[in-house]
Amino acid sequence: MNKLGKDIEDKLKNSLPPKRYKHVAGVCAEAVKLANHYGADETRAYNAALLHDCAKGCGEEEQFRLCSEYGVELDEITKKCPPIIHAPLGAEIARRVYGVNDDEVLEAIRFHTVGKANMTLLEKIIYIADMIEPSRDFDGVDELRRAAYEDIDEAMLMCIAQGLIYNVKKCAVIHPKTLEAWNYLQINKKTEE
Ligand SMILES: [Fe+2]
Ligand SMILES: [Fe+2]
Repeated sequence: MNKLGKDIEDKLKNSLPPKRYKHVAGVCAEAVKLANHYGADETRAYNAALLHDCAKGCGEEEQFRLCSEYGVELDEITKKCPPIIHAPLGAEIARRVYGVNDDEVLEAIRFHTVGKANMTLLEKIIYIADMIEPSRDFDGVDELRRAAYEDIDEAMLMCIAQGLIYNVKKCAVIHPKTLEAWNYLQINKKTEE
């Protein structure tokens, strides 16, 4: 698919608060950099990054409403954890409202918060770019930034660990797909010889 144009950018910009749009621009830049580094499709990385948070312009109630309008099925854990709804809903908004019909891009949007087992390179790039884009500032982010360009699977494990620890400390629910992602990466770790 072609790189999404200025019309899409403007439409998105109008639907998000400026701080969120700044984050999105950061994710785009980081995702393109990672795509070039690992030989992934730069255009897909840009498009997925641009729209990954496109549902964030809607409040919680509106997100639930749109999920039922668009037939986005939410599992029980996701229903208990509203901040992750924007990912599956975002994939549907990207398709219906922004006209994206590239499944790889839509899947990268759909799984950018919880992850899943056996993620594609593009999915990993969006997941990681979301966490390390230049405006992110939290303890350990520089370590993640370094790892991201050295070993993408190790960086995935570090990003997931960061999220797991955060959620455990908050006594929040952990989505089973996040654990599936974690276990898959641990089991399939490349052993150094
Ligand atoms: Fe997000
Ligand atoms: Fe994001």
